[in-house]
Amino acid sequence: MTALRRTVPAAFAAACIVAAPCPAADPNYARNLAATCANCHGTAGRSAGGMPSLLGADKARMLQQLHDFRTGARPATVMHQLAKGYSDEQLELIAGYFAGLKPAQFPAPPPGPSGD
Ligand code: HEC
Repeated sequence: MTALRRTVPAAFAAACIVAAPCPAADPNYARNLAATCANCHGTAGRSAGGMPSLLGADKARMLQQLHDFRTGARPATVMHQLAKGYSDEQLELIAGYFAGLKPAQFPAPPPGPSGD
């Protein structure tokens, strides 16, 4: 009997571990892809100026722009090459990620000492 008392909770514990949801894919995949744009477009897509911001962009519009860069319909200095480096699925994830960011979550940093 003592053995049974010990075994039953152990069996439940094992079932919980097995039943725990496991992420099918990396939950940060879209964010990590979007991070490759930060060098030029700013952290979280908030540009410090001189470059278009991607933060809070309209998803369909951004996908169209990326598509136009890829096909050459829109001439570019670098984006025509960069856009070709991602699959359709990846661009979809990236555009969805930026579209889902709320500008209020990422306020502009305070001006630097020089007032920039
Ligand atoms: C090496 C710097 C660089 C990187 C990295 C970069 N971009 Fe760009 N992006 C530019 C430049 C420069 C432009 C202006 C078009 C051009 O000359 O290529 C631009 C323009 C854009 C535009 C058009 C915005 C508008 O309103 O006209 C979109 C959309 C865009 N980039 C998305 C992305 C995405 C998404 C990524 C990451 C996958 C990315 N960019 C990474 C430099 C960069």
